Amino acid sequence: MSEVLLETRNVKKIYDKDGKRPRGVLSPVVLDDINLQIAAGEFVTLLGPSGSGKSTLLRILAGLLRPTEGEVLFKGVPQHGPNPHLAIVFQSFALFPWLTVLQNVEIGMEALELTRTQRLKKALAAIDTIGLDGFEDAYPKELSGGMRQRVGFARALVVEPEMLFMDEPFSALDVLTAANLRKELLGLWRSHGMPTRAIVMVTHNIDDAVQMADRIVVLGANPGIIRVELPGLPLEQRTATSEGHTNLVDLIYRIMTSPHEDVANLLPTHAPKPKTGELAARPYQVLPHVGIGDVTGLIELVHARGGREDLYQLGRQLQLEIDDLFPLVDAADLLDLADAAEGDLVLTEQGKRFAEAGVLEEKQIFRDQALARVSLIQRIMRDLRADPEHTLPEEHFLKLLKEHFSEDEAWAQLETAINWGRYAELFAYQEEQGVFRLEEPEAS
Ligand SMILES: Nc1ncnc2c1ncn2[C@@H]1O[C@H](COP(=O)(O)OP(=O)(O)OP(=O)(O)O)[C@@H](O)[C@H]1O
Ligand SMILES: [Mg+2]
Repeated sequence: MSEVLLETRNVKKIYDKDGKRPRGVLSPVVLDDINLQIAAGEFVTLLGPSGSGKSTLLRILAGLLRPTEGEVLFKGVPQHGPNPHLAIVFQSFALFPWLTVLQNVEIGMEALELTRTQRLKKALAAIDTIGLDGFEDAYPKELSGGMRQRVGFARALVVEPEMLFMDEPFSALDVLTAANLRKELLGLWRSHGMPTRAIVMVTHNIDDAVQMADRIVVLGANPGIIRVELPGLPLEQRTATSEGHTNLVDLIYRIMTSPHEDVANLLPTHAPKPKTGELAARPYQVLPHVGIGDVTGLIELVHARGGREDLYQLGRQLQLEIDDLFPLVDAADLLDLADAAEGDLVLTEQGKRFAEAGVLEEKQIFRDQALARVSLIQRIMRDLRADPEHTLPEEHFLKLLKEHFSEDEAWAQLETAINWGRYAELFAYQEEQGVFRLEEPEAS
């Protein structure tokens, strides 16, 4: 094992209770019990669904954010404050529009005690390395997205950081520009064209992660935990056409589309056991926030493919990122219209009937499934039936939901239940008064 450069011990992060918690945040615990080591010579990628705390973890590792519990050690020494031995490249280029390329790169060295000449020399060298030669005096607005991100890289590398962090550095770029920049960066890294000893990159893109990483860390959400650390492929297998690449992409896809599954159950049986995390048991159901129309579309697409389709292919066909595909799969699974199994989505009997049904029967099947499987809808129906007027204010349900969810998420959960329940014609919801009413009280 080579020298450990950076390490977290039992890191936990809870954002300020009073801090604004954006929509979709289920748990106030953003990261839980994170133990991660970054060794010299490694290129590590962090993958995980949106909101799993990837950026938060990166900022904690960099010392830009304090963990609520636990500590970060650099070469064995506990850190308190920004780590001067590392530099970060962000997704948004964060350039100063009123400064030239050269000046934007020089900003990276503000904290260093250098003479004007030393500074200039280093900045020009970094600009050269990163392929910006000739653009020293250009302003950001004159540059393409790819060139702007090059300035971001030059600004990070100019300080010759021991570690380079990147938070989705390619995701704001068009496909070809991203591929080009990725290739150049890998070239620099592998040929030791930069003094950096370790790289940590956050990405949404499984292909990127597999292609670049020596180790892949997959985070899970709510709370953010490390689900598994997978070893990267040997260099010669990292091309998109190799079998190793296909298999690893497939495995990661399967892991990410089965967030409630113990990773150990998803690994091929002959594989050496990687480090996996504990899945937190969740005593309550979480509704994925998707509209019924999209679930119907998904079911119909799978049906058209013979009732079974590879999730990865499905994502590609629908041109959906995993973050957008996953809630749909989750909803189909929750309603028992389909099962996610071995990286495929397979329609159940109900799912098949649902796909073949006309509009009215489709509604009926959905109604049956929602009543049988969705606990929030069950609860709404039960309480509405029990009420003498068959009418209840939304606060009644919000109060219940707030026992498990943040304020915003309680709302989001209720909104999803309203969307589904209205479609199923189980209950009506009057927006202005915020009141629920049973659709056909006499029939119940
Ligand atoms: N400053 C903050 N205050 C309160 N909550 C925050 C703050 N920053 C992030 N969060 C919440 O913490 C969780 C993790 O956020 P983070 O940005 O680290 O996730 P991520 O994995 O990087 O997501 P993405 O893939 O969308 O970039 C999210 O639910 C987010 O809403
Ligand atoms: Mg992020």
